[in-house]
Amino acid sequence: MSRLFDPFEIGRLQLENRIVIAPMCQYSARDGTPGDWHMIHLGHLSLAGAGLMEIEATAVSAVGRITAGDLGLYSDESEAGIARVLAAVRAWSPTKVGIQLAHAGRKASSRVPWEGGAQVKSGEPGGWHAVAPSAVPHVDDEEPPLALDEAGLAQVRDEFVAAAKRAVRLGLDGIEVHAAHGYLLHQFLSPIANHRQDRYGGSLDNRLRFPLEVFSAVRAAVPPAIPLWVRVSATDWVPGAWDIDGTLAFAHALKERGCAAIHVSSGGVSPAQQIKLGPGYQVPFARRVKAEVGLPTIAVGLITEPEQAEAIIAGGEADAIGMARAILYDPRWPWHAAAKLGARVHAPPQYWRSQPREFKDLFDGARTGQR
Ligand SMILES: Cc1cc2nc3c(=O)[nH]c(=O)nc-3n(C[C@H](O)[C@H](O)[C@H](O)COP(=O)(O)O)c2cc1C
Repeated sequence: MSRLFDPFEIGRLQLENRIVIAPMCQYSARDGTPGDWHMIHLGHLSLAGAGLMEIEATAVSAVGRITAGDLGLYSDESEAGIARVLAAVRAWSPTKVGIQLAHAGRKASSRVPWEGGAQVKSGEPGGWHAVAPSAVPHVDDEEPPLALDEAGLAQVRDEFVAAAKRAVRLGLDGIEVHAAHGYLLHQFLSPIANHRQDRYGGSLDNRLRFPLEVFSAVRAAVPPAIPLWVRVSATDWVPGAWDIDGTLAFAHALKERGCAAIHVSSGGVSPAQQIKLGPGYQVPFARRVKAEVGLPTIAVGLITEPEQAEAIIAGGEADAIGMARAILYDPRWPWHAAAKLGARVHAPPQYWRSQPREFKDLFDGARTGQR
């Protein structure tokens, strides 16, 4: 019996299996609003057979977008755009759908990756002034962000809450708060980006304060049946900066506040990072969070092979696996994994006739007939 295809619960949310389609920015929205690209992209991924599909980093404000093409959930138009895509997905797929709520902080106002990804300065067409814990740019010669004052912090916290309420209204199954990859909440955690001298900077407790305030405010605004969890960078990959010990303290504090899971990634706050890349390179961080904090974890990062994913779950290293690049490359990855591991997977009836002869029991409930 495959453990990867065992059901799994995040909070009260039941998932058919432990494959999570990780959030992936598409930089293809207009004023935060998705269009046909999202219909195609999320539509086809929703047929993959994963237990959960996470909608990409979705900005809680226009200023919090990484690029002008980022998806947002801060206006009636963006909410209606997501509702349209979600209705189509729901009509044809049982995969649960979550959303990642995000604020880019000092990494906002960038060009899209296929235009080089560089900062767009505030005076340039399409650019705006980014906000951050401190007026410290991501890259030395960039325009520095504006440091948030107390009123600014309250505004960002309220924007997370407002976006979460929209997510609830949309009927999304779960919400992930993005505190990884060098974006705003990670910037508060990391001493590389957080140079504040007030109660939001300096000691570990102080650096945890704003991300925890945001989490608690969102948790209070979302019904208990909808799980809320957090994506973290377990380390900055820079000596003396944010690391696994801080991550464990953060995860403990999140658990006390009702966090349902931790999605364990790494890096993104500093161009000086020295990442030790390799298959499953972030899994050891997920294993420590699971073992030492006792929260369910999603491991992510270069998990590409069915046997590898199975071993991570069967070995108790994580409760679910996230996939990004490998599932873009092969959107039927869960079908192939189920076939290899002797499991069953959901496939739409329109595609049941594709079930290969040697895997007679692959698709849940599959049957065909004609006169
Ligand atoms: C096209 C693309 C877009 C991404 N966008 C996001 C995002 O919106 N939010 C996020 O937390 N990570 C994002 N990531 C990172 C992935 O979620 C994932 O953590 C990373 O790619 C490592 O997993 P992989 O080896 O399976 O690709 C993105 C990755 C890719 C390839």
